[in-house]
Amino acid sequence: MLKILLESLPLNITVLGAGAIGSLWAYKLAESGHNTTLWLRHSAEHTHRLKLDDQPDITFVTNSLFHLSQSDLLLITVKAWQVKEALSTVINALNKDTIIMFMHNGMGAIDEVFSTINKHPVVVATTTQAAYKPSINHVLHTGYGITHLGGFNSKGQQCSFLAEVFNHSLAEASWSSDIRPALWRKLAINCAINPLTALHQCKNGQLGEPQFLAELKSLINEITQVLIAEGIEIQQDELYSTVMHVVQATAENYSSMQQDIFYQRHSEIDYISGYLCQTAKKHHIDASNNLSLYNKIKQIEHSWRTE
Ligand code: NAP
Ligand code: PAF
Repeated sequence: MLKILLESLPLNITVLGAGAIGSLWAYKLAESGHNTTLWLRHSAEHTHRLKLDDQPDITFVTNSLFHLSQSDLLLITVKAWQVKEALSTVINALNKDTIIMFMHNGMGAIDEVFSTINKHPVVVATTTQAAYKPSINHVLHTGYGITHLGGFNSKGQQCSFLAEVFNHSLAEASWSSDIRPALWRKLAINCAINPLTALHQCKNGQLGEPQFLAELKSLINEITQVLIAEGIEIQQDELYSTVMHVVQATAENYSSMQQDIFYQRHSEIDYISGYLCQTAKKHHIDASNNLSLYNKIKQIEHSWRTE
């Protein structure tokens, strides 16, 4: 597969989920020469214009069944809780060789749909690139980071050439022969930062203040035990330093979950703390601090529906 695809570059790519991160990647992949189209939830028109920062507009074809069926790669950049529904709208139109790549925060969403996609090569990506979409036709690249790609099934393991495709479009991107440590480490950071900032409606940097120290340490203690039980090599002090580094590096930012709660949008809590707590239960690990935060965020979400 690798040889055939490399010889047939540029790739045909469909991006499903043209929000902030999907628009950033769609623009960058198109700019580097890949035949990239968008799959939007509603597309009355057949094209969609996107501008990245102050660069020129690129016009994308949208919701083309023909292009979808010819896609070498389907990049799914919806939120974790949107994966199942979004995938169901395109799955029957895909060629069985189409590589399906998921890029979202949290874990567990791919497992929920895996039985419907396991004949495809499945690849998972986790990124610390950051984007913001101030309007429907404009995306801002708000933070530079790293993207890790890796196979989710055995066919996906054979797609390491995608690291070159992604790195060429938006560096730095690299291939991990075992993607699980990268996914778990990102989940660990999200478990520590996201629910606390959402609950206290504060910027990431405020978690560095003394009143959060004890709670952060308890959360990280539980998270470390879960990662170790999952076979991830990590130490509590190391994870604490990593979380504090992210808190300082993104001090002026609001986390994605803070924003979701602020705007009363469905958050990714089930796939972040929820996934951690489920895994803790499986290993008989006490994760009561994480569970308490999980319940508090779920209560807030529930309160909107009963208002
Ligand atoms: P977002 O702006 O909400 O983008 C998600 C997009 O998917 C929205 O445009 C949404 O459209 C679309 N969508 C949802 N269901 C769909 C469907 N059935 N068919 C077609 N389109 C559908 O979120 P985001 O910030 O890009 O984040 C996406 C994922 O990347 C999240 O897991 C996030 O945590 C992660 N992430 C984001 C960043 C960042 O800087 N933004 C960085 C790292 C990781 P509607 O608006 O119509 O629902
Ligand atoms: O979800 C987010 O906001 C980000 O992943 C992170 C690392 C917490 C920084 O804001």
